[in-house]
Amino acid sequence: MANWASRAVRRLDTVDSTNYEARRWAQEGAPYGAVVIAQTQTAGRGRRGRGWISKPGAGLWLSIVLRPSLPPEQWPLLPLCAALATADAVKTACGADAQIKWPNDLLLCGKKFVGILVEREGEAAIAGIGINVKQRPEDFPEELRGHVTSLEAALGNSVSIDAVEAALLDALDARMDTADCLEEYARRCVTIGAAVRVVQGDASFDGIAEAIDGQGALWVRNTATGGRQRVLAGDVSIRNVNGYA
Ligand code: BTN
Repeated sequence: MANWASRAVRRLDTVDSTNYEARRWAQEGAPYGAVVIAQTQTAGRGRRGRGWISKPGAGLWLSIVLRPSLPPEQWPLLPLCAALATADAVKTACGADAQIKWPNDLLLCGKKFVGILVEREGEAAIAGIGINVKQRPEDFPEELRGHVTSLEAALGNSVSIDAVEAALLDALDARMDTADCLEEYARRCVTIGAAVRVVQGDASFDGIAEAIDGQGALWVRNTATGGRQRVLAGDVSIRNVNGYA
């Protein structure tokens, strides 16, 4: 397990995407726990082909190279464990009580401030984590302002990116090489028990999220049909007073 004394770190001012850089490094044999951190990304990447805005110096843009000892069928749990580690880290660093939304978004006041993208590279997994720390609402595109936030905007006080980084590396060390995060994840995931809308390509359905199985998939009771559906991929929004968020 990596620790502060031995961890290999590439600290960059600018990079296309820390996930791309970590992938290149993994191909060259990066050790377990190697980390890429950038001040900004020119091609930050989100899930499902989306981009990720990485304002210079406003957040933590980080990717870690993992060489999991988990059996392949449990690799889908890695994003869930990364979400739990990140929730632990922001609690430690600044007292934030983040909500975990399946599979791996973290929310404060109902708005997303963390995104996680886990990708496979041969025998390695690259876990990319973006944490909005210092942005003000006006730093985000207008159409996103109702949906995204930063730690400082949500908490109303100053937060140190260095403190978040240190806490995150510790939490990743503690959480990422085992699959035993599932029970705790399910307890802390606000999606379970919620009314949700599932969007898969052009299709969507409404239901109640009931459970998460051993591969990290979400089981949703379809309100229209009464049947249970297993959701592995797709966008899941949680219903609130304003509709689905
Ligand atoms: C999402 O919610 O869509 C996932 C966003 C993941 C963003 C992080 S920032 C660090 C790492 N590098 C990337 O290009 N993406 C991830």
